[in-house]
Amino acid sequence: MSKVELRNISKKFGDTVALENIDFAIEEGSFFTFLGPSGCGKTTLLRIISGFVKDHKGRVIIGNKDMTHVSSEKREIGMVFQNYALFPHMNVYENIAYSLKIKKINKKEILNRVDKYLNLVSLDGYGNRKINELSGGEQQRVALGRSLVMEPKVLLLDEPLSNLDARLRDKMRIEIGDLQKELGITTLFVTHDQREALTMSDKIAVFNKGKCIQIGKPREIYSNPKSPFVATFVGENNLFKAKIENSKAILNNNVILEIENDSVGNYISIRPEDMKILRRKEKEANTFKGKVEKIQFNGMVLDYVVNVEGIKFKVSELNNPYTDIQIGVGDYVFIVIHKNVIKILKDN
Ligand SMILES: Nc1ncnc2c1ncn2[C@@H]1O[C@H](COP(=O)(O)OP(=O)(O)O)[C@@H](O)[C@H]1O
Ligand SMILES: [Mg+2]
Repeated sequence: MSKVELRNISKKFGDTVALENIDFAIEEGSFFTFLGPSGCGKTTLLRIISGFVKDHKGRVIIGNKDMTHVSSEKREIGMVFQNYALFPHMNVYENIAYSLKIKKINKKEILNRVDKYLNLVSLDGYGNRKINELSGGEQQRVALGRSLVMEPKVLLLDEPLSNLDARLRDKMRIEIGDLQKELGITTLFVTHDQREALTMSDKIAVFNKGKCIQIGKPREIYSNPKSPFVATFVGENNLFKAKIENSKAILNNNVILEIENDSVGNYISIRPEDMKILRRKEKEANTFKGKVEKIQFNGMVLDYVVNVEGIKFKVSELNNPYTDIQIGVGDYVFIVIHKNVIKILKDN
């Protein structure tokens, strides 16, 4: 298991800047996620770490060894690609055994290793199956087994769950998380899905347009986004332009919110679940009257859109028997925003 250090990595494709000055370290044994929208450079960074992309600036250090000029095969890295890239003409056993054979490991050892990893990815008895006889989730497990059987020091997973349906994705998310903990392998996981990132990671690096813009534990990223981009990309948010002065935030519609202190910025951000929605006015600061424009029922959660003098607030509530009010579209309600849930952010 190895620490991975990325030092001043930049990469251009022609005029396209794919990565700019990526500089951080990934702790040994941790589950670390690169999160960002499509095209922000995640795959390119994984390919640089694995040694598939060589002509980049900066250095890749794995387990205190500078690997920048070391060939891909010698980096002891396992990679699972988005499309799995399994060999269709080989069965499950042969797929998993392939790299061991190339390394000329003896037959008995190969047999033992493949058995061990088939078991680890819950594919006991699947050795003779053809790849096209497998479900998406099973193919995913073969791809994982094929990387893990080499007992790499670092595991790279490029959007491994994006081809699976929602239920299976939930299941594989837990399986991959458990497996990673069991093996203690340093894992770099790429996703554009904030939910995956929040649930699986020890730490998350948020990327946008080739830059890493925030690194932190899932809770830090969610609770303390440092920029408007992170605030809206990770989780739902009410992000509004505001003029900040004298412990107040003045919105474009001249609604004034009391805020905690005079932090510097030009946006306020409020999570939908951090507000209260009431039928009757209460004597609390930051209570605003608004009209319900939309209600979306999601089973566990109710999402409201409340129009307060032209500005639309998203407010979420748990759908449970303790919610004392029935609210309909067109009703007038009051939303309450405690000042400690209002974050002040600055354009970056
Ligand atoms: N081989 C390539 N040739 C030219 N441009 C590329 C190549 N690979 C990636 N890019 C560009 O680099 C940027 C980052 O791509 P990528 O790393 O695949 O992003 P992500 O995985 O986050 O979706 C994109 O603008 C993409 O079009
Ligand atoms: Mg990609």
